[in-house]
Amino acid sequence: MIEIRDLYKTYGSGGAEVHALAGVDLDVAAGEVLMLMGPSGSGKTTLLSVMGCILRATSGSVKIEGREVARMAENKLPEVRLKHFGFIFQGFNLFPALTARENVELALKLKGLKGTRAKAEAAALLEQVGLADKLNAFPSDLSGGQKQRVAIARALAGEPPIVLADEPTAALDSQSGLTVMEILTGLARKRGRAVVVVTHDNRVLQYADRIVRIADGRVVDEEDRERAA
Ligand SMILES: Nc1ncnc2c1ncn2[C@@H]1O[C@H](COP(=O)(O)OP(=O)(O)O)[C@@H](O)[C@H]1O
Ligand SMILES: [Mg+2]
Repeated sequence: MIEIRDLYKTYGSGGAEVHALAGVDLDVAAGEVLMLMGPSGSGKTTLLSVMGCILRATSGSVKIEGREVARMAENKLPEVRLKHFGFIFQGFNLFPALTARENVELALKLKGLKGTRAKAEAAALLEQVGLADKLNAFPSDLSGGQKQRVAIARALAGEPPIVLADEPTAALDSQSGLTVMEILTGLARKRGRAVVVVTHDNRVLQYADRIVRIADGRVVDEEDRERAA
């Protein structure tokens, strides 16, 4: 699904350069839950952003389902993002003035689904994350765990083959964090999605197929884990 080779990402220039990624090699397979761990500032968010075509690489190769995106023209990247990725962030990033269903519908519209079909699909996605009874709730009426589940439903709009999550459980209590991980893991197991999760959260490591540790912009350790049933 994802093939990264000798990836570098440098922010700034001249004396103020920050080498956020310094020679990363990484593969992510379909159906796999990969966790990225490492200290703050080690380059995890940068790696996720370059993977997800939110940021351009400085050098190196990034192949998404066989297609080289590292040197693709800037104006082609939004299309790649929409086609291949769903994103989930720590802070949920929901629109406060829109209901749960409208937040998901908006993402579906971006992916070309409109009108009553978008409405029905939004309801189906929210049902899939256990929020069938919260379609018309506003984010302010939802708990942190519920908001993150809306964010997951939104990330699943258009059935992206790859789901990227940046510290999705950091703002959640233990039980909500586990529920969120159950849902994300289910996507990989039952639907063959590639799921990449940046986390500091030791409680969720049990869900990983593979744990990759990053320090100073480099992969320092990879650990394969027994796949849970
Ligand atoms: N937009 C930016 N401009 C300059 N430096 C940045 C920017 N974003 C991140 N960095 C720097 O790049 C390094 C890696 O950051 P980041 O990928 O956010 O790490 P992590 O997610 O592991 O905490 C850090 O030194 C950070 O300060
Ligand atoms: Mg980060």
